[in-house]
Amino acid sequence: MKIIKWVCSIVLLVTITSILSCKETSKRSASIEDQNFNKGWLFKKDTIVGAEAINFKDTEWRKLDLPHDWAIEGPFSNVNNARTGGLPIDGEVWYRKHFNLDRSYSNKQVSIEFDGAMANAKVWLNGEYVGERPYGYIGFELDLTPYAKFGEENVIAVKLVTKHLSARWYPGAGIYRNVRLKINDAIHIPQYGTYITTPNVSKERAEVSIETKIKNRSSSHSEAILNTIIKNDKGMVVSETKTNVSIEKESEAVANVSLNVENPKLWDIINPVLYEATSTVIVEGTIVDRYITSFGIRTIEFDREKGFLLNGNAVKLNGVCMHHDQGPLGSAINFRAKQRQMQIMQSMGVNALRTSHNPPSPEILKACDELGIVVIVEAFDEWKIGKVENGYNKHFDEWHEIDLRDMIKRDRNHPSVIMWSIGNEILEQSQKDGWKITKRLNDICHDEDNTRPTTVGFNYFPAPFENKLAEYVDVVGMNYWPENYKEILDNNPEMIVYGSETSSMTSSRGVYHLPIEYTEKHETNHVTSYDAIVGPPWAYLPDAEFDALAKEPRSLGEFIWTGFDYLGEPTPYGGRDNSTNGYWNDDWPSRSSYFGPVDLCGFPKDRYYLYQSQWTTKPMVHVLPHWNWEGKEGEKIPVFAYTNAEEVELFVNGKSYGKKVKGKDITEIPAEYHEFEKGMYKSKYRLSWQVPYQPGALKVVAFKGGKEVATKEIKTAGAPAKVTLIADRTEIDADGNDLSFITVRIEDKDGNICPLADNLVNFDIQGAGVLAAVGNGDQTSLASFQATNRKAFNGLCMFIVKSTETAGEIKITASSKELASETITVSTN
Ligand code: GAL
Repeated sequence: MKIIKWVCSIVLLVTITSILSCKETSKRSASIEDQNFNKGWLFKKDTIVGAEAINFKDTEWRKLDLPHDWAIEGPFSNVNNARTGGLPIDGEVWYRKHFNLDRSYSNKQVSIEFDGAMANAKVWLNGEYVGERPYGYIGFELDLTPYAKFGEENVIAVKLVTKHLSARWYPGAGIYRNVRLKINDAIHIPQYGTYITTPNVSKERAEVSIETKIKNRSSSHSEAILNTIIKNDKGMVVSETKTNVSIEKESEAVANVSLNVENPKLWDIINPVLYEATSTVIVEGTIVDRYITSFGIRTIEFDREKGFLLNGNAVKLNGVCMHHDQGPLGSAINFRAKQRQMQIMQSMGVNALRTSHNPPSPEILKACDELGIVVIVEAFDEWKIGKVENGYNKHFDEWHEIDLRDMIKRDRNHPSVIMWSIGNEILEQSQKDGWKITKRLNDICHDEDNTRPTTVGFNYFPAPFENKLAEYVDVVGMNYWPENYKEILDNNPEMIVYGSETSSMTSSRGVYHLPIEYTEKHETNHVTSYDAIVGPPWAYLPDAEFDALAKEPRSLGEFIWTGFDYLGEPTPYGGRDNSTNGYWNDDWPSRSSYFGPVDLCGFPKDRYYLYQSQWTTKPMVHVLPHWNWEGKEGEKIPVFAYTNAEEVELFVNGKSYGKKVKGKDITEIPAEYHEFEKGMYKSKYRLSWQVPYQPGALKVVAFKGGKEVATKEIKTAGAPAKVTLIADRTEIDADGNDLSFITVRIEDKDGNICPLADNLVNFDIQGAGVLAAVGNGDQTSLASFQATNRKAFNGLCMFIVKSTETAGEIKITASSKELASETITVSTN
């Protein structure tokens, strides 16, 4: 089936158990619990024979809590592949946990649910083999009942092996996502047990259709009542229904119920309203399971002419691709870290995310549900043909169907999810029969969820069209072919297209070399933030994508590569050689990506403001570079301004250098790679001046309709005099998980940031918190993310503090030699 216009509407839900699990134990009924199973594990990194045995001596093993990423502990070394972050990801590790199961559970079903374990997980309970899951990004549940011991101690053992040359970016390593122990009655709602769609949504009414699975693990037939209620965002019950369900012994029944929600409040990107559904299973007058879910009501439509429509309104996708790491915090999942990443993205104007190139954590989808960011959930970076020596292709035949179905079953209830991506730049594009796998994966997606289209990020042209792969997905994603949107649409009257990966430019925050380099490399291994043409051969200016989208408004929008810098793939430093699966250490110490408009710590680079000037409407203006050019007095310095207003006037020490008009006064940028921007690319999006340097104040004033709407001033900083601290939140939860991100600034005596400062800052932390990580966004720094000190990089570094479970005050003091220190207090409740 080829779909020209994809219309669907859905009400979505997320099991509350998975949401709560990162914070607390969630009760499903008096006797039935999903227990947070993150605490009290033992860990050992070694190749060990027999560590699954119940009596294996583990008393010397390291004690820790999950989620845990052991590779982020470092050290960085050029023995490790820079492509995967220069961190020691390879090898075998073991986790063990001793725990008791209450005797009262002896007639219950016991299972363990991992949201993901990196990688090649094998699990034993009490020495008995339970199961395995190779793909590190997928969630999985294993039944422990046959080997569980009640009223006495149990030992679970998990072996993980991260193979050498198994990834193209930093995959993390360890049980890096949340784990739950589930205690169920014989009759219960199983994992991913609910699926809700809305066949009809109008202003007056939403028809809510809920499919609920009920499992009967007992040896007798059972009659159950399923009671379903829907609550609105104020907690008021707005709809309720009851139905009888017969479930044969040792089998599963599916109950379909339909409810109406009157005057529904729709989920959208401005006001992401969430509802909640509770499904209660009652047998012989007793509640045996209660499954609480949150959900939203919205319609999505993909239209060849109008683009993407949310609740009938056209929304241009201002998207970002993101890998899963959280910078200095590594891959160990943390809801606040994810939420902050997406808030920073939203402040840049982002309304869409592509979870490149693997199934995401439940936490990122929860954050996007709550923030109002639409998501493309991606399954694979490889099918049968590998890109690295030990990639997913080794598991594809055996696992792709199970992994893909599980991904969709888990995520199909999130209002934020709008498309299923079955692959990124899969090498089957160039094969004559590449369409066969495309069709197969596409069919699996439709089988599990017929309310969202499928997509692929293609990077060859015209191969996926000639080989018909593009015909077997609903929406065609193109990586780095903006000049072809029109041709694709004109030549394929049924296709819908968008930029699944765009731009791929690189930069280092606060770095400005003069003269501006237009070649790929610089001796410092840093990349200029003048946002010139520095990137891999397939990269192009953000401006060129803006042009392409303006020229071809039928494109759904774009997903820039990438929202944040990420660990690994330090392009343009280090080669890219798919043919040899090569090491990327030739430009050591570069160890993390330069692609983001935001650095690894979440500090905006200049490019952040270029996107903001295109994607937001609240008046803004940005100016670059810094204004500390000692020794260059009188020399001309290139100055750029980005604004979403109409005109910008530039001043140095009060003297005007004239007004420039956006759209009329263009900036020429030498660009070398793509035909559409080759030679002197003329940017309508950047205003520029050449200004003789004179210490003092550089100021831009933006105007709209002749009225001043925004202004920004940068001052020449004096010598570093003090360290100042700014916490993103000074009150956090005392749950042992919540984070405060503290920006550390090196300032002169007047409070101006010192844009070149690299002072070493020492941290002291007292009270109700612990150090989570430090960082500074420098892609070449080999300092540990877990040290209690950090050098500033161009005036900034970051300290991330984590709460303990005891409420109180956290006092963080930052000090640096010869500078005034500062103490900040974060309270935890
Ligand atoms: C793309 C690829 C991404 C990343 C990017 C860097 O081709 O899909 O994973 O490698 O290039 O520019």
